[in-house]
Amino acid sequence: MNTTIFDFVGDNVGEWKVTSMIALKGESIEPVSHIKKISSSLVPSNKGIWTLKGIVSNLRYTEKEDKDNLVAIQEDLGRSEATLAAFIPIRKSEAWWNLAQDERRKIMENKSQHTQTGMKYLPAIARKLFHSRDIGEPFDFLTWFEYAPADAAAFEELLNALRKTEEWSYVDREIDIRLVRM
Ligand code: HEM
Repeated sequence: MNTTIFDFVGDNVGEWKVTSMIALKGESIEPVSHIKKISSSLVPSNKGIWTLKGIVSNLRYTEKEDKDNLVAIQEDLGRSEATLAAFIPIRKSEAWWNLAQDERRKIMENKSQHTQTGMKYLPAIARKLFHSRDIGEPFDFLTWFEYAPADAAAFEELLNALRKTEEWSYVDREIDIRLVRM
């Protein structure tokens, strides 16, 4: 079984039931009632109503100290008490991709403090980042978060903080999909 390439399948059946779906920026995607995440391959697949493909990849911007801290406190997906999830596909603009690696890192970490802010919400929020840009997908990233109902307000606070940053001014498509485990 492949453990790095996943299909997120929007359909009318699946492990996660959609509770809301909002296109915050850019074009929306077809509404679905359920999403399932399945191990896959690079072969184009036509499953469900839509399929978004993502790859678990190496870190791009995280330095050793942050990496060690993250590994020490972050939780895995699949905790039984984490019955809520968010699936947020994101695309960044050409202006972002035209920047050099060090300029992108400066915006994410020095100016927007992405990791520093996110770290405050660990281990309550479990997260996984999937890369899609290099495989010709409509989004650059597929982000997935799982949390317990008691941490739902904290998750909103985190999103509000990140969406106000300079980093987010480069986001040109973002769909916010909320889910509950069936
Ligand atoms: C990337 C941490 C929440 C969206 C990253 C990276 C880290 C990180 C360390 C850099 C990975 C690398 O080195 O390549 C966290 C932590 C969070 C959190 C600790 C706390 C839960 C979020 C949220 C969103 C988000 C709520 C919004 C949907 C992203 C995206 C990237 C990213 C799109 C890729 C950015 C890029 O490569 O341009 N995150 N994050 N993160 N995160 Fe977060």
